[in-house]
Amino acid sequence: MSRSLFAVIFAFFACSAQANSSTKVAVPMGDAARGKEIATTVCAACHNADGNSVMAQNPSLAGQSYDYLLKQMTDFKAADGKPALRVNAVMNGMIAPYDLNQMRDLAAYYASQTPKPGAATNEATVQLGRSLYRRGDMKKGVPACASCHGPTGAGIPAQYPRVGGQRADYAEIQLKAFRDGTRTNDPAKTMRTIALKMTDAEIKAVTDYMAGLH
Ligand code: HEC
Ligand code: HEC
Repeated sequence: MSRSLFAVIFAFFACSAQANSSTKVAVPMGDAARGKEIATTVCAACHNADGNSVMAQNPSLAGQSYDYLLKQMTDFKAADGKPALRVNAVMNGMIAPYDLNQMRDLAAYYASQTPKPGAATNEATVQLGRSLYRRGDMKKGVPACASCHGPTGAGIPAQYPRVGGQRADYAEIQLKAFRDGTRTNDPAKTMRTIALKMTDAEIKAVTDYMAGLH
């Protein structure tokens, strides 16, 4: 075999191997180093420099799935004269100055950070929280959270976000927002349908449990 033919065949296989590994993310990866500059100067005030939030109502972003992060930033951003798909006064303003490439860089930065494990704080509800998370509630038609968010809460990229270690207050606000229809950016109304079937007490129990899940 001639050397050049060999080189062509080798290049072909190298390319297809790369194509395979990049199919894990639906959108091309941004540059984490560039994202870090914005994250540590602008976003750190609320999400902490490494994306492990220390404030109850602000979400942790560290180790969150790249595609999910990018989707949320895009949803927070009003574009082409249309209103933002996800409404939050703070984030709608915070994300407004950044274009798609900067949002990809930010998503790459947070996805590459290591999530710090949290802890459940209410012993009285841990059993209910665990049971809802692992098995759901067949009688009420609530599916097991684990089936989409994974047994350890790490999420299943590209569609299903990490919930393990997420701040309980933040997750509670989101489930209630899905339930009352103020957060409507979940594809196919998946989370709105589930949250509608949950009581305040169940939401509190499962979000406290998820905070300690890792
Ligand atoms: C002043 C505080 C504040 C700043 C600064 C801020 N955020 Fe946020 N961020 C929030 C809050 C509060 C939420 C939750 C919004 C909600 O309840 O819908 C949030 C939500 C998010 C989410 C969605 C997380 C999820 O799990 O769905 C992403 C992504 C995000 N912020 C990225 C950023 C980026 C990138 C920056 C910097 C450009 C930034 N934020 C700056 C307060 C802030
Ligand atoms: C059929 C799949 C599916 C099941 C089952 C499911 N979820 Fe979700 N969940 C999703 C999807 C998809 C999203 C992301 C929606 C979006 O893109 O904005 C989500 C988002 C969330 C969020 C918001 C995350 C964030 O960072 O803002 C929370 C909290 C959540 N789910 C909790 C739960 C709980 C608790 C259960 C079990 C009672 C559950 N989910 C069951 C698919 C599912």
